[in-house]
Amino acid sequence: MIKDIIKLLPAAAVVLAGCSNPKTQSSCSDEDRFVDSVVNSLTIEQKIGQLNQISASGVEEMEKLAAQGLLGSILNESNLDNLHRIQKAAIDNAPHIPILISRDVIHGYKTIFPIPLGQAASFDPELVRHGSEISALEAASDGIRWTFSPMLDIARDPRWGRIAEGYGEDPYLTSVMGAAAVKGYQGDDLKNPQSIAACAKHFVGYGAATGGRDYNSTFIPMRLLRNVYLPPFRAAANAGCATYMSSFNDNDGVPSTGNKLILTDILRNEWGFDGFVVSDWFSIGEMINHGFAADMKDAAAKAINAGLDMDMVANAYVDHLQDLVKEGKVKESKITEACKNIVRIKYRLGLFENPYPTIPQSVKYAGEHLVAALKTAEESAVMLKNNGALPLKNAKKILLCGPMADAPHDQLGTWVFDGEKEHTVTPLAAFKQSEYDVTYIPGLTYSRDNNTSKFAEVVRAAKSADAVIFVGGEESILSGEAHCLSNLNLQGAQSALLAALKQAGKPVISVIMAGRPLTITDDLKNCDAVLYMFHPGTMGGEALVNLVSGKVSPSGKTPVSFPKNAGQIPVYYNQNNTGRPASGHEILLDDIPAEAGQTSLGCTSYMLDTGFGPLFDFGYGLSYTEFAFSDFKINQTEFTSDNDIIEVSFTLKNTGSYDGAEVAQVYVRDLVGSITRPIKELKGFKKVFLQKGGSESVEISIPVSQLKFYGLNDVEVLEKGSFDIWVATSSANKDIKWKTTIEVK
Ligand code: NOJ
Repeated sequence: MIKDIIKLLPAAAVVLAGCSNPKTQSSCSDEDRFVDSVVNSLTIEQKIGQLNQISASGVEEMEKLAAQGLLGSILNESNLDNLHRIQKAAIDNAPHIPILISRDVIHGYKTIFPIPLGQAASFDPELVRHGSEISALEAASDGIRWTFSPMLDIARDPRWGRIAEGYGEDPYLTSVMGAAAVKGYQGDDLKNPQSIAACAKHFVGYGAATGGRDYNSTFIPMRLLRNVYLPPFRAAANAGCATYMSSFNDNDGVPSTGNKLILTDILRNEWGFDGFVVSDWFSIGEMINHGFAADMKDAAAKAINAGLDMDMVANAYVDHLQDLVKEGKVKESKITEACKNIVRIKYRLGLFENPYPTIPQSVKYAGEHLVAALKTAEESAVMLKNNGALPLKNAKKILLCGPMADAPHDQLGTWVFDGEKEHTVTPLAAFKQSEYDVTYIPGLTYSRDNNTSKFAEVVRAAKSADAVIFVGGEESILSGEAHCLSNLNLQGAQSALLAALKQAGKPVISVIMAGRPLTITDDLKNCDAVLYMFHPGTMGGEALVNLVSGKVSPSGKTPVSFPKNAGQIPVYYNQNNTGRPASGHEILLDDIPAEAGQTSLGCTSYMLDTGFGPLFDFGYGLSYTEFAFSDFKINQTEFTSDNDIIEVSFTLKNTGSYDGAEVAQVYVRDLVGSITRPIKELKGFKKVFLQKGGSESVEISIPVSQLKFYGLNDVEVLEKGSFDIWVATSSANKDIKWKTTIEVK
C-alpha cells in the first residue's frame, strides 16, 4: 500500500503539500502529492540516481547501486533471481524507490509476433493491440515493466535496416498502429501488474537517415517534421504513452538528445506529456562525436537542459550533474523535474505498492498467445502475385525448398532476445503436420549462400512434385539496428535457384520472409505466386500452410512501397506532385534510339530505367476472393469546422469463392494549399472480414481536423478549399472504387 511505502520514506517526504506537475497544477492529485513528497525528500545525489539507467553488469554491483539509491532503471537483466535481489536492495534501503526494469520487447517477449513492419501489413490495429498486450503479460511475468517499443519512425528507405521495427512509410498508418501498441502494452491502467510502460521511439526523424545508413544525419525541415515525422509521436502522446526515447540522429544540426525544441517545447509544452524521456544507448555521450558537445560534462548539461530525463548507460548524469549545478550551468530544479517525471511513471506503474512480479511463469507461450501470433502472421502476409497457383487445389506432392523453409531462428526476425527458436514452427515443421506429401531439399542453407551445387537435385525433385514452395528472403541479422544494405535483391544464389526451379515446369510459389521490402523485380517472372510474410515470428510456418492451403485467404496490404531497385529509393506514395509530374507514359531506356539527339523526353519526374511508380504500391495486396463495392454515400460535401466528421459509407460484398478480408482505404488530396500538398494521403481504413457471399455496410469516419496541416510559418491550419476524397483498395489510382470532391468553407 502507498501508505506503507510512505511510512518507509523519510519524514520530510510525508509532507503532502505542494504540487509541481505543470499539467495538473491547478488540481493537485494524490499522485502529484505523492511524487512531490517523495522527490522533495531526496538528496541531489539520490535524485540524480533516479535519472541513471545502467545495462546489466554484475549483480553485486547493481545491488550496491540500488541500495545506495543511485539507480533508477536497468536494462538487459532478465534473470529473475538477480532482478529480485536488485529490487529488494532498492526497496529495503532509503530512499525506498523501486527500480524500473526495462527491456527491448519489440514484437513479442517469448511468443514472437511478426516484426512490426509485418504487423502493419495486417492493417488490423486490434491485432497489434492484442499482440502488445500479450507481450506485456509475458514480459511482466519476469518483472519487466517497461519496453522500448513501439518504434514510430516513418521509414521511406528500405535500405535502412530498422524499417523492420516500425510500421512503414505512412504517418497515418503508423499513428494508428503505434497508438494500438501503446494501448496494448499499457492497458487501461498501468497499475495493473500485467501492464508495462511503452516507449515511443526514436524521437525524432531517425528513419530519414541519409542514404539509409543507420545513425546518419537527417535534414528534415520543421514543416515536414510536423506533417510527416511527428504525427505518430503525437498520437502516442494522445494514447497516454508513458515514455519517449530520444533518437541518435542529428536533425539539421541538432542531435535529438540535446534538442530542447522537440523534447520540451513540443513534447511537453505543446502536447502536455508528463512522463519521462530516456536517451538512446549512450546518445548523451555521442553528442561529443556529433561535435555538439565538448566533453561528457558538456553533453550532460546539454541533455538535461534540453529536457532529457534519463541517461541510458552513458553515466553522464551521475558523473557530472552535481558539479554542473555547483557551477551554475544546470539548475537543480531541472534535476528535480526530471526525477519527478520518472517517479511519476513508477507511481503509475504501481511499483511502490507492487515492486515484484506477480504474473505466473505459465503465461509464456500460452496456447492463446500462440493462436494470436498465428492469426497475426496470417494477416500480415501480403500476396503480391498470383496467377492461379494459390491456393493449392489439386497439388498434394509439394517440394519445399529455399533457405528460410526451416530457419527457426531467422524467421523470428530482428530484436529477439527472449523468444526461443525451439518454439518456432517453421514451414517445414508445419508442412510435416499437414495433409501434404512434402519433400524438403533446401537447395541453399542460408540466405547469403552462393553454393549452387544442390540445384540439380532440387530441380529434379521439383519435376516430380505437383508444386514448388520456395521460402527465401533474408536472415534476421540482415535487418534491424545497424544492418543496412545498398542492394536489396535476394541475397546469395536465391534468384538463381528461382530461375532454375522455373525450368522444372511446375508452379513455383515464392514465400519471402524478410525485414524490409526486397527488390524482387526480376524474380517475379520466375514465380507463379508470391506471398510476402516479412519475418513472421513463432507461428510463421503454420500461418503459411493455412494460407497456401486456402484455409485462410491472404489479407495483408503493403505498409510501404516496394521499390523496383535500390536506385529508385526513396519511393513513397504520399509525395508532392512536383511541377512536372510523371504521366506514366514516359519514354524508357529501351525506347531511346541510338545516337538520339538532345530531346526533352517529356521532361517529367521519372527515371529512364525504372520509370516512375514502385514495383508494388503502398496499400496493395491480393486475396483469393473478390470484393464488390456499391452504394457509396458521404454524409455531406461541405464542411465548416474542424469538429465536423466526414462519414463515408458503402456496401462491401464478398463476391468470390473464399472467405476473406478487404482493407477499404480512404485517401484525400488537398487540391490547392498555401504550401504544396501530397497527391494522396491515407486518412482512414477499415479491414472487413466477410464470408463468401456475405456483405456488410461499412462506414469510415474522418474528423475534418485530419485535413489540417502545418502550413506557412509552421502553424497548423485547416485551409478552405476543395479536397478530393476516395475509397480504394490500394494507393494506386487504378484501385480507386469511388471518388468525390468536398469543400471546406
Ligand atoms: C539502441 C536502439 O536504438 C534502441 O532502439 C534500443 O531500445 C536501445 N538500444 C536499448 O537496447
